[in-house]
Amino acid sequence: MDSLVDKVAVVTGSGRGIGRSIAEALLHAGAKVVISDINEELTRQTASELNGSGGRVLGVPCNVTNTESIETLLATVSKSWERIDILVNNAGITRDSLFMRMSEDQWQAVIDTNLTSAFKVTKPILKLMSKQRYGRIVNIASTTGIHGNFGQANYASAKAGLIGLTKTIALEYASRGITCNAVAPGFIDTQMTRALGEEIINKFVERIPMGRMGLPDDIAAAVVFFAGQAAYVTGQVLEVNGGLYT
Ligand code: NAI
Repeated sequence: MDSLVDKVAVVTGSGRGIGRSIAEALLHAGAKVVISDINEELTRQTASELNGSGGRVLGVPCNVTNTESIETLLATVSKSWERIDILVNNAGITRDSLFMRMSEDQWQAVIDTNLTSAFKVTKPILKLMSKQRYGRIVNIASTTGIHGNFGQANYASAKAGLIGLTKTIALEYASRGITCNAVAPGFIDTQMTRALGEEIINKFVERIPMGRMGLPDDIAAAVVFFAGQAAYVTGQVLEVNGGLYT
């Protein structure tokens, strides 16, 4: 089991929601955390709210679809901390529509933000982790990437792709002390799902064996496991879904 004390973690899309909870949980476990979000105001606000004890939180805005923005993020982190031990690819969006009505823009935006982003962010960080011969990468996928979902062809494809990326990086980097795993959340209470409205939310919840939506902290617990205790686990996808396997 690895201690998370003083490990450096980068969490993308951590201004709010699941990403913010992941950052808080890693911080609580002793890590130093980089809060990073496309929304500059959220990045600043969340970083300052979490930085209670001082010096262990860095807020750096970053758009994960933009290579220059990623380079700026890494350059800024390297001024404060020399390593990156943990990367959580969490930033994501939805642009739901039934397949026949889905525009190319809706398709591309979701592929760019949920899948290509992980390629772009992970590549330079893997270089660093390879030199360190240590790293923990956790990708936030979705049960939709495993089972599919009505109105989410773009999102299901991106998240399925992220799972393929996870398993391949796991194979290619196992010998260098780097693990790569994915958490596949079910239906979690965040602004992303609140946008669906009460009626649809209630219909979903009726189908969940545990009878409730998941909380961002439920996902954070799985990420902390992969980042800390799961030293001999790689290439895995853990569904955190209250028992809803469809
Ligand atoms: P959210 O919408 O509350 O938070 C997502 C955050 O990502 C926002 O702060 C947003 O500003 C940021 N973001 C969006 N585009 C970005 C970009 N290009 N660069 C950097 N940051 C960007 O959503 P939530 O629910 O917290 O989702 C987090 C992750 O969990 C996403 O990958 C999502 O697909 C995944 N997920 C969520 C589920 C849910 O039920 N809420 C279920 C399954 C997966």
